Amino acid sequence: MSDVVSVEFGREDIRRRIEELGRTITGDYEGRAPVLISVLKGGSVFLADLMREIALPLAIDYMSISRYGGAAESLGRVRIVKDLDHDIGGRDVIVVEDIVDTGLTLSYLISVLESREPASVEVCALLDKSVRRIVPLELRYRGFDCPDEFVVGYGLDFEERFRNVPDILAVHDMDALRADPDVLLPFLPRIEPVPSEGQRSANA
Ligand code: IMP
Ligand code: MG
Repeated sequence: MSDVVSVEFGREDIRRRIEELGRTITGDYEGRAPVLISVLKGGSVFLADLMREIALPLAIDYMSISRYGGAAESLGRVRIVKDLDHDIGGRDVIVVEDIVDTGLTLSYLISVLESREPASVEVCALLDKSVRRIVPLELRYRGFDCPDEFVVGYGLDFEERFRNVPDILAVHDMDALRADPDVLLPFLPRIEPVPSEGQRSANA
């Protein structure tokens, strides 16, 4: 095991936990058709897996936001870069988040969504860095409590890379990671490359 980074939540544990979350949500929203809203880009992997564990006629929608500086300086205020495609008035909304850290971004986002008068708004977060919370937030659904370390993989990036790492990694030494981000390469999916059709006929 590397002292820079290690697997914190493995893909099989993630899969099982999402199955449980999906069963709970299916029960809680019986007879309703919630809309799952994901915040790009980190939440997209979680949303893709979670929605297939929910047996309801749900809808999905995406929002993209950009922060003004760091979360703390901006008090969570964000600029909406891409808004939802559909009106959420009267709908049951579930915000699907990869990770809740200080909670500033999410609490701002919830206030924006609530101003549009949905029937309800709940949060489903895969990871909860609860010790870092600045604003109190009720997370109705929560995958795992997350240690106070930078995490990468399963949608979460390090400088826009490594979102496709199938496990969730915890970084124990940020300086070492910044000096050499390639320490994360061994955690990428292991795939045997097959030559494409085009290459095969060119080589024939
Ligand atoms: P908050 O406003 O402090 O709760 O910020 C939450 C957002 O910060 C998340 O949606 C992530 O995009 C990002 N974030 C927080 N912690 C991590 C981490 O450990 N790895 C990757 N992104 C993170
Ligand atoms: Mg996010």
